[in-house]
Amino acid sequence: MCGIVGVLGTHEVAPLILESLKRLEYRGYDSAGIATVNNGTLDRRRAVGKLINLSDLLVHEPLTGKSGIGHTRWATHGAPTVTNAHPHRSGGVAVVHNGIIENFKALRAELAAAGLVHETGTDTETIAILTRLHLTQGMTPAKAAAATLARLEGAFALAFLFEGEDDLMIGARKGSPLAVGHGDGEMYLGSDAIALAPMTDRITYLEEGDWVVLTRAGAEIFDADGRRANRAVSRIRLDQTQVDKGGYRHFMAKEIAEQPAVLQAALAFHLDPSGQALSLPDEVDFSDCDRITLVACGTGFYAAQVAKYWFEQLARIQVETDIASEYRYRQPVLSDKAVAIFISQSGETADTLAALRHVRDQVARTIGVINVPTSSIARETDVALPILAGPEISVASTKGFTAQLLVLLLLALKAGQDRGTLSADQVKDHLATLASLPGLMRQALDRNEEIDKIARKLAEARDVLYLGRGMMYPLALEAALKLKEISYIHAEGYASGELKHGPIALIDKTMPVVVLAPRDALFEKTVSNMQEVMARQGQVLLISDPAGLEEAGEVWQSITLPTVPELIAPMIYAVPAQLLAYHAAMVRGTDVDQPRNLAKSVTVE
Ligand code: M6R
Repeated sequence: MCGIVGVLGTHEVAPLILESLKRLEYRGYDSAGIATVNNGTLDRRRAVGKLINLSDLLVHEPLTGKSGIGHTRWATHGAPTVTNAHPHRSGGVAVVHNGIIENFKALRAELAAAGLVHETGTDTETIAILTRLHLTQGMTPAKAAAATLARLEGAFALAFLFEGEDDLMIGARKGSPLAVGHGDGEMYLGSDAIALAPMTDRITYLEEGDWVVLTRAGAEIFDADGRRANRAVSRIRLDQTQVDKGGYRHFMAKEIAEQPAVLQAALAFHLDPSGQALSLPDEVDFSDCDRITLVACGTGFYAAQVAKYWFEQLARIQVETDIASEYRYRQPVLSDKAVAIFISQSGETADTLAALRHVRDQVARTIGVINVPTSSIARETDVALPILAGPEISVASTKGFTAQLLVLLLLALKAGQDRGTLSADQVKDHLATLASLPGLMRQALDRNEEIDKIARKLAEARDVLYLGRGMMYPLALEAALKLKEISYIHAEGYASGELKHGPIALIDKTMPVVVLAPRDALFEKTVSNMQEVMARQGQVLLISDPAGLEEAGEVWQSITLPTVPELIAPMIYAVPAQLLAYHAAMVRGTDVDQPRNLAKSVTVE
């Protein structure tokens, strides 16, 4: 949940590390820090808040040295203060850490008993102190780090730097990702390849339990049992690491606008060249499957809930959806004929990864629906289907959501095909419908200005309700999540029919109620629920198509979307939900791409 980077360079490293941290800031921005070794002397600078504060500090208090480590933090143990900011240091050891050390209290007590006192409330400082202790016992830095790693329980990616060692850096990975970058006479460590992209496109992804000794001459990698390990060097595509805003004010705006192109690319990838047949890996086979389990967190979970409708309708199969953090601990009843699908943009979400590991030997097959092809979930599922959204930098997921939906819909069609609930012609018809998706989405994006004006009114509210029926219900949940996470307006999503079972008590004239309702088979029922809201002076913002808006009559506000086939309505209706949240956040002046308390990649449970 934090970003880490390390450089053994040939020039001053602080500016390089700052640039890399900028690319990792999506992982956390509670504080940032850098440590360097300069002619043997270890030094560090740390600042609370965003990277810009560290950058300012370095102007006044420069940090020299050609070897360094850096960190951008999402606080877990200890408040976001300078003292708790990484790198943590004990004597001649500096450490940056992403993850959680679960046994740090026991270690802390053990170290305290040995007279070694902590200055911070963090679990990471324990790593630095323990390593220092090992050094004082006469171990080499590599042996000291290895001895420390052997004592750590929990999840971590680590980078160590040592006083007196200008040509040494040690990295380790267990449960949190870490990549080694190869340069010309330089070596790097980073939480992901995007961080290292300005310096190199030659990357080695460490495996679970690996640790690595880096010098400028290269990397010596060891596995969890301490044996030398050969890990491949791969070339990453630099177009997948571009993280500029492309002229937009925020990454979120850019990512919303990219959706038609993303969906077009995903369709081209997962269909055969004729566009009339699915082209999915052979392992994606639902013939003998007796149920489907969909597991994810946050936005991915709402995508799963939409997909449940598709799988049930198209493939007539039992589907369960679960939040990853609950799934693992509630002793789910598993079937060796089940297909379990794990949805994750980052592919690193700790809860989703843990849920995957928990069930993978007990089900017939695991499928990953992921955006980052080199991620842990991509590597650990039997088959990983890319959503091909490209880097999603904004913390609020937008193109990730609609691309997840598309891939899940393709999987539901495949399930229908494999189980014989859909004929070849029906699959072809559905794929023909999908061909209209990018164009319809462009039309939805064309409502941007109209939505901006409405969002200004929405931004005045303290609370907002979102209502929907059928597939629009999970979409209402996603719309509410989007609004609350970036505008900080309290919002809830409900199934329209549930309103009268409690939430209707909240309705008064100050309460905007956003109703997501294409003119479909459920429309009349939704309109009745809308009337119940208006009868209690609730302010209805109806998002529908021309037929739906005409039939519904007068409402407080409305957004007109194109008439769309029911199958693809969730993707199209996601667009106004995203734009409403975006513009409301702009009005409220929040930090749209990096909302408070959040991080893009949640690699702690
Ligand atoms: O990378 P993942 O898809 O596994 O992330 C899951 C959630 O953390 C993520 O969707 C989160 O809810 C977003 N901030 C929502 O916009």
